[in-house]
Amino acid sequence: MLRQPESYLESRLPADVQRLPRPPALGRAIELAFLRWEKRRLAPTERFWRDFGFHIVSATPQRLVARGAGTAPCIAIAEVASQDRFTGPAFLMSADTELHRYVEQMGACWLPHDRLPVGGRGVELFDPSGRSVWLLQDQQPVEPLLLREAVTPSTNTAQHTPRVNRTVRTPIEPARVVRLGHVVLQTVDFARMAEWYLRVLGLIPTDVQYLADGSPSLAFCRLDLRDRPADHHTLVIVGGIEEKYEHGAYEVLDLDALGQGQQVLRAQGHRHMWGIGRHLLGSQLFDYWFDPDGFEYEHYTDGDLFTADFETAYSPLEFGGIWAWGDDAPASMKPKKSLRTLLRLLRLIRRKEITPQRLKLMSAALDAPARPWL
Ligand SMILES: [Fe+2]
Repeated sequence: MLRQPESYLESRLPADVQRLPRPPALGRAIELAFLRWEKRRLAPTERFWRDFGFHIVSATPQRLVARGAGTAPCIAIAEVASQDRFTGPAFLMSADTELHRYVEQMGACWLPHDRLPVGGRGVELFDPSGRSVWLLQDQQPVEPLLLREAVTPSTNTAQHTPRVNRTVRTPIEPARVVRLGHVVLQTVDFARMAEWYLRVLGLIPTDVQYLADGSPSLAFCRLDLRDRPADHHTLVIVGGIEEKYEHGAYEVLDLDALGQGQQVLRAQGHRHMWGIGRHLLGSQLFDYWFDPDGFEYEHYTDGDLFTADFETAYSPLEFGGIWAWGDDAPASMKPKKSLRTLLRLLRLIRRKEITPQRLKLMSAALDAPARPWL
């Protein structure tokens, strides 16, 4: 029963597995800049953000802007609106990306300066699900904030004991988020969304997961930073039954920051979701939380990095493949078995947005018991 899932390099793909198409890129994203939100009330979000380890740059009655301890001037914005909603991601594009091409070829619009929270210039376009995506340039980096020294280099292992006559006493404080790492989006039309994001952002699929019929249904995509190492994934597209923000993930200094951060969030009464565990694809140590409006946030550390030449790998999609060890993923990560879900599925089938066959394959991938011995 204990086994590592199989994985194939793209050059040695079994004949019954389809490759994820790689459209020519219109430009090249070099950073996930920030995530944007609309909130009916900003105060509960501000409180969560502080306890989660964001540094608040400005808080007006209309807008909340946060940064991490790294050099990005902004990692999250929330604006007052009549609903609680994830508005969309903003990406920083390489200097050689020509933003006007998005205006001419994809109907993007230049963003007015007062909409940009930390300067620069940018365009707004909409993905196939109608979600706003910002592409930015000329954002000025800021001085990083001081962090304590990481515990990891002085970790004692059975083979190596650098820490002698010293202890581990990390402060009990919020996790001190360093930077925004990735965002995960669920979509009904996986193929179209993956094609769109790969083309718009010039991403490289690191790991692709496929259904039992060999069709890709999930893609972990990284930035093309050429020979500079990039995170295993910066954008994840997940085939599913709705258009949904799944989570945003923020890097913290080390495992002790993750653990102390969890203590603080628990003590402040926030809602824990999942963790601490280690992911399989991406290898991050993770801890997931809900913000006051039910949106998912992830703290992570110790993720994999790859340069642009590293080959894409494919593996069968299975729920248990999300994590290497740790507690079982919560049921909230799967669609609720409710009348509402049933009606949604019937609507998708009636509109021919999804086939019953594909639904069956997706549900087989999700429903297989992840850790049958638990
Ligand atoms: Fe994640």
